[in-house]
Amino acid sequence: MSTGTSRLRRARCLIAYWEGTRVVFHNFARRLSVSARPITCDILQFFDKWRTLGEAIVHFESYTADSVRASVSQLLEQGLLVEKNSPQGLRDDRISKEWSPWLPEASFHFSTKDPAYVRDHWTLARQRSVLSKTPQPRIFKTVRGQKTELPVCTLPRSEFCQVLISRKTHRQFSKDPLTVEAMSQLLFLTWSAIGYLQVPVFGRLLHKTSPSGGARHPGEVYVMALRVKGLQQGIYYYHPGRHNLTMISNKATPFQACRYCAHQHYVKEAAALFIMTAVFPRTMWKYQHPRAYRVVLLDAGHLCQTFCLVATWLGLAPFCTAALQDTLIEKDLGIDGISESVLYVAGVGLPPA
Ligand SMILES: Cc1cc2nc3c(=O)[nH]c(=O)nc-3n(C[C@H](O)[C@H](O)[C@H](O)COP(=O)(O)O)c2cc1C
Repeated sequence: MSTGTSRLRRARCLIAYWEGTRVVFHNFARRLSVSARPITCDILQFFDKWRTLGEAIVHFESYTADSVRASVSQLLEQGLLVEKNSPQGLRDDRISKEWSPWLPEASFHFSTKDPAYVRDHWTLARQRSVLSKTPQPRIFKTVRGQKTELPVCTLPRSEFCQVLISRKTHRQFSKDPLTVEAMSQLLFLTWSAIGYLQVPVFGRLLHKTSPSGGARHPGEVYVMALRVKGLQQGIYYYHPGRHNLTMISNKATPFQACRYCAHQHYVKEAAALFIMTAVFPRTMWKYQHPRAYRVVLLDAGHLCQTFCLVATWLGLAPFCTAALQDTLIEKDLGIDGISESVLYVAGVGLPPA
């Protein structure tokens, strides 16, 4: 804080809770947590409106000016106060306004972005050391009551059943490129509008191969083409209504793909990534209850399964990952991470020979 005349306000993206006997303040937009003394509540309450340090010194007259100055400066550093027109202040304002119908519940979305991923190799000993010390939950439930045996399921020799049964996560790929025709089929069958619905109140809605809560279709997809025959390496936006790609960057490298996916090495060998984002206002506009945040995540899951099945049907090797460097991806896609945010990445290669 440079002068006593800067205008400061309590961060709006703030939640408080008890951890044991300590009160913790958490700025979910900046992922900063700090435990603080109860007097902090009084100071934050005072800074409910834009105020200056000078005003705080006058207001908290029972404290010395130096101690008020030190507290305010600390709260600013810890993200509990923001400065007017600073990048943090502007972002805080946007998130709190644009997400207001879903806050504070959906603060989870911001709190869980960009975690500190472990980059080195996971040995079995390392895995054991971080797992819970209690026994692993059983993989099946036991439900008491009368049982009804079902007929033995004999599968018809159908392509559909074959595709369902063959779907699995691949982490090894051949060096061969994907064809642009296969890319086109993957995009069309997973993300394209395959029809439109005209409904009262809401007008024209999309119909896709995956369902979407309220037919809001918040999901968008960007392609990182790494090895696609007939398509220049780059990052593209896919238009689901026009079935075309718009290049938004030529910064597509196996290393960048690997960085996007929290340095998971196998991602470097993929032929293409499909970066799934959500445009939250599409769903939020209709559903103002924070439960709708779940719907956006569920939608992404549907799209990803459709993608995996289409890729399997095409004889390709799909995978998906939720371990992502959100902010890095959002910066490269040119999206703000507030109205549109990355959720999930799927990828594909050709299976190894
Ligand atoms: C939501 C979700 C997140 C996942 N994240 C990762 C991931 O970060 N890295 C990875 O290698 N696999 C990831 N997977 C793939 C799972 O590990 C994989 O589906 C699981 O091991 C079962 O294997 P299968 O897909 O062959 O049935 C994810 C799957 C789902 C559904």
